[in-house]
Amino acid sequence: MKEVDSQQVDQLTEAVLASAKYKSIDDDFIRYIGKQELFKHHNLKEAIKSTKNKLHQVGGAYQTSTPRYSIWLDELKFAKRSGDEAHFLDMCKWIMQYHSSTRERLPILEQFYSIIFANLPPIDSIMDIACGLHPLAVPWMPLSEHVQYFAYDIYEDMIGFLNASLAFMAVQGFGKVCDVIHSCPTQKVDVAFILKAIPCLEQVDKQAGLRLLETINAGHLVVSFPAHSLGGKNKSMVTNYESRFYKLVEHKPWSIQRFEFPGELVFLVNKS
Ligand SMILES: C[S@@+](CC[C@H](N)C(=O)[O-])C[C@H]1O[C@@H](n2cnc3c(N)ncnc32)[C@H](O)[C@@H]1O
Repeated sequence: MKEVDSQQVDQLTEAVLASAKYKSIDDDFIRYIGKQELFKHHNLKEAIKSTKNKLHQVGGAYQTSTPRYSIWLDELKFAKRSGDEAHFLDMCKWIMQYHSSTRERLPILEQFYSIIFANLPPIDSIMDIACGLHPLAVPWMPLSEHVQYFAYDIYEDMIGFLNASLAFMAVQGFGKVCDVIHSCPTQKVDVAFILKAIPCLEQVDKQAGLRLLETINAGHLVVSFPAHSLGGKNKSMVTNYESRFYKLVEHKPWSIQRFEFPGELVFLVNKS
């Protein structure tokens, strides 16, 4: 990309971070989007506006209301301490509905993980790319007690909450603020979830999906696509995403299984 004035990038980043909706987003990611938008617009005010729009499209649009992380954490803590496992699961579900991508999976939680994990070897480590609130679905995954779970997203407050919440799940591991487009995690894991993330990341960088599929060091990838848009319309999404996915993996020596769930199209990729 052609160089843009670094002082303008600083000003843009500061202005975006000053807004409550974006203050928790990784600053390097804001700078990257900001540079793209300054390059297109030349005018600082317009570039700030379009940077916010882009950040909304790739992140904010999925948050159904202002997240209340400290209240959610208290509820989880209380449910865990009560020893009532059904109540704890209800709390995880209640919180997951505040991220629209994770919410869409709630009606199929049981079947989703039982089918996916039935097609995987025993799993000791999991990576969750552009995770949203998906780590709260850990209790529905048939995992051994030694499993390690690593989750990545661009929101600092969300990751702080997930780190505290993972302590209540029967897993080790951590959440980390990470722009996976520019710093794809590279540690070796048994399986990586890339759930409904590719269309979102490709809005910022057309090569992001392919790069992630190639770079992630996992025996298996669980890659999914939404089967309807955020507004609920279908628009032949399954057909379009299916052909997009097969284009991404053409010429790769990987074996692929396809699963279609209500609301979600899933590909299980065996890279090993
Ligand atoms: C469609 S949601 C998917 C959430 C989750 N994987 C699921 O299916 O439940 C996309 C997620 O990607 C995150 N995201 C957007 N850009 C990102 C980036 N460059 N690096 C990491 N996460 C990103 C957003 O914050 C959002 O939580």
